[in-house]
Amino acid sequence: MKVLVAASILSADFAHLGKDIKKAEEAGCDLIHVDVMDGHFVPNITIGPCVVRDIRKITRLPLDVHLMIEKPQNYVQDFIKAGSDMITLHAETISNAKFKIQKTKFSEVKFGISLNPATPLKKIIPYLKSADFVLVMSVNPGFGGQQFISSVLPKIRKLREIFSGDISVDGGINDKTAKLVKDAGANILACGSYIFKSKNYRQAIERIKNA
Ligand code: DX5
Ligand code: ZN
Repeated sequence: MKVLVAASILSADFAHLGKDIKKAEEAGCDLIHVDVMDGHFVPNITIGPCVVRDIRKITRLPLDVHLMIEKPQNYVQDFIKAGSDMITLHAETISNAKFKIQKTKFSEVKFGISLNPATPLKKIIPYLKSADFVLVMSVNPGFGGQQFISSVLPKIRKLREIFSGDISVDGGINDKTAKLVKDAGANILACGSYIFKSKNYRQAIERIKNA
């Protein structure tokens, strides 16, 4: 499967967000990963649909919107209207029944299901029939720049045995951990600080892709 890099803007400079996104696009990233946090599901607050709407105007890349919020079903429509292409919901925040309803209601976007490092794979098995992709968290969600939790690797391997769609991994991705998650079967690498805190975005993205 082709390896895609999703640049996670959480580690960008929010005072120059447009500029950083254009730089990441020109440097060869494949998706723009947008972390939405509500201060309830995770202990941090970030951005809402109005920011997604304005990002939509400045990039052609697909917008990969990661909802780390309670009651995500109440906000899906707003994020779609704002221009999201992919929306990830956490299995800790939505039942399989409600996930399926969202999928059916808003068939124009891709829906992913995510799980935290401590959440066992069995929790998401029922969602796999309707999910377009799975996003495996490799840090506890809430902040960029955390260390990769390597105990998620067996989970990615097991998931790859039973799921043929895209597997995204998010948290602590760099040139070393990128190889570990690719070998385990992941093909979308969401990466924030390794790209945005580097001096050379292109080199960082290539190092992840070629790891
Ligand atoms: C964490 C976010 C990640 C984060 C990754 O809750 O979901 O997308 O930005 O950042 P790095 O790559 O710095 O771990
Ligand atoms: Zn994320």
